[in-house]
Amino acid sequence: MSLFDKFAPLAAAYDRLESTGYNPFNVAFDRVLSPTSARIGSRHILLLGTNNYLGLTYDPAVIAKAIEAIEKFGTGTTGSRIANGSYDGHNQLERSLADFFGRRHAMVFSTGYQANVGMLSALAGKNDHLLLDADSHASIYDGSRLGYAQVTRFRHNDPDDLANRLRRLADQPGDKIIVVEGIYSMLGDTAPLREFAQVKREAGAYLIVDEAHSLGVLGETGRGLAEAKGVEADVDFIVGTFSKSLGGVGGFCVSDLDGFDILRVVSRPYMFTASLPPGVIAAATEALHQLRIRPNLRRQLMDNAQRLYFGLAELGFNLGPEPSPVVSAIMPDPETAFGFWAQLLEAGLYTNVSLPPATPKGLALLRSSVSAAHTPEQIDHAIDLFAKVGRSMNLIMPPHAHEPVRQAV
Ligand SMILES: Cc1ncc(COP(=O)(O)O)c(C=O)c1O
Repeated sequence: MSLFDKFAPLAAAYDRLESTGYNPFNVAFDRVLSPTSARIGSRHILLLGTNNYLGLTYDPAVIAKAIEAIEKFGTGTTGSRIANGSYDGHNQLERSLADFFGRRHAMVFSTGYQANVGMLSALAGKNDHLLLDADSHASIYDGSRLGYAQVTRFRHNDPDDLANRLRRLADQPGDKIIVVEGIYSMLGDTAPLREFAQVKREAGAYLIVDEAHSLGVLGETGRGLAEAKGVEADVDFIVGTFSKSLGGVGGFCVSDLDGFDILRVVSRPYMFTASLPPGVIAAATEALHQLRIRPNLRRQLMDNAQRLYFGLAELGFNLGPEPSPVVSAIMPDPETAFGFWAQLLEAGLYTNVSLPPATPKGLALLRSSVSAAHTPEQIDHAIDLFAKVGRSMNLIMPPHAHEPVRQAV
């Protein structure tokens, strides 16, 4: 008997996967060379599954600021901000975030995951209600578990279902807090935020938007979906991460609500973990600056996203509902997703496999994410590889054929 016996079925499935020599959940890169390329052994790999939306991981200005901060302030803070204090960089990054979003308050967490866990667990008390979109990220579900609020799920992207559920809660005491995401990470679809904002206003609820995948991607100035939809005034809290468009690690929340700063002595995932190291903070601050001064990155990103989305759609792949930097091909089953993923990698293209419980409706996905740093030629090469593998697996029609050999679901 072992503590790990309860994982035996999963361990067996994992072993089977490892024995094929291709495990999408444990890829080892020998060298990462740029935002879009890496090496595995002697093979050159085109990266199309990194969430590196603006390609800022190798930006010279970002790297220079990180090195300068490490040299000046050391490699780590060795503790939380309530114990070891804030460095100037933490405060400066919070001021930059508040300024960028036009809000009075900003708070930085050590990861995007912790930003959600820290905000939801602290904001929603025992008698309060959290209303979560059914397709919410794990960090939103985990944050709602860490607190003591009543949790209600509503149908994904369905404002009517949300309104109905809020009506049923109308007589119950406590605050109602709605949580949605800007771009959903699995299928790349956006929330109907104008409609959600109206439901929120009518119900007198609060609204949190996780812009993890939409910061730097959507909106006139890159502030995300709330900006793109013109509803920033209805959004009480914006949560986000530095790990995607900003190319680093860390998370944040911004708000205009009075009393926000009490969270610094209430939110356990903020209080009881080491704060971000100076180099990481400096990199995020500079990356945010680059995001602000280079709107062309956003345009390149969206051009690339549309090129990939429409290229794969034309080939006959079944994709998410709208073009976005997250482009997922829906596979008939996990085995096909693994096989497809492995053949792409063999051909030099790195994508992601996404499976339940991370995916909605039990879908098996071959997920790509596009970067502003990709060239159109790289996107076209990726589309060619998808075509080759898709045809070899009978998932899409051969060129000029009229009937699919096997329809992708
Ligand atoms: C919607 C959403 N929120 C939060 C997170 C967590 O961010 P991080 O990986 O930076 O901790 C993710 C990560 O994928 C995400 O997709």
